[in-house]
Amino acid sequence: MSQNVYDQSEFFENYVKLDRQTKGLDGAPEWPRLREMLPTLKEAQVLDLGCGFGWFSRFARSGGAARVRGIDLSEKMLEKAHSMTADDGIAYEQADLENLTLPDDEYDVVYSSLTFHYLTNLPSLVAEISRSLKRGGRFVFSVEHPLFTAPTTPSLVVVDEDTGRKAWQVDAYQQEGLRTRSWFVEGVHKQHRTMSTYINLLLSSGFRLTDFVEWCPSQEELKSNPGWDVELIRPTFLLVGAVKD
Ligand SMILES: C[S@@+](CC[C@H](N)C(=O)[O-])C[C@H]1O[C@@H](n2cnc3c(N)ncnc32)[C@H](O)[C@@H]1O
Repeated sequence: MSQNVYDQSEFFENYVKLDRQTKGLDGAPEWPRLREMLPTLKEAQVLDLGCGFGWFSRFARSGGAARVRGIDLSEKMLEKAHSMTADDGIAYEQADLENLTLPDDEYDVVYSSLTFHYLTNLPSLVAEISRSLKRGGRFVFSVEHPLFTAPTTPSLVVVDEDTGRKAWQVDAYQQEGLRTRSWFVEGVHKQHRTMSTYINLLLSSGFRLTDFVEWCPSQEELKSNPGWDVELIRPTFLLVGAVKD
């Protein structure tokens, strides 16, 4: 049974205040790079996995998508998505991605933002995605970067007292699996995977890699958002684009 932390009131009340939820895609610093990976959405059949408030689902429709199916586990996230959407071309649905089955040869674009690192059974989902994408269809997703998920203890940036040099302590990169984090509430479950695992999963599931980005702010972005300099120590986001051959 999947953990559904987004439906916990304390978690949700804090999560809704994040920039990426109040401002939508423009409040997500990695969005411009992710957007570049997308093909044209005109007339596309689109699947949005872990759709949350539906920001991407609505973006896809505004870009001309024929239909969007948004799937999420959380009732609260979907309630919010429904309340923000007035469009018959978008269908939101509550389901667990851990045991999702998808129709054959259905979608032109499958998208997922910051959701796969919650899943234990990613290989099965990626196989479903591969089967449900049309030939030449695109798969674009983001996850928390493996260096970010790796530490087994909450690894804050540590500062060397003598030199002032900052570092991120990675103690178990090659040990994949559950990481328990404190994020708005205690005991949030995430899954750590290595970079090789993500890449090999795609290659063995019939995908060709088209984009691979370890997100980092530009010098200009750093000037207006000095707090993002932590990204120079270790990346938070891994962004991937692939095509079904
Ligand atoms: C960080 S939020 C991202 C939401 C949205 N994609 C965005 O970028 O704004 C992660 C989403 O994944 C959903 N999620 C987590 N585990 C899931 C599961 N097993 N099945 C379906 N959705 C899940 C959560 O409910 C949440 O809405």
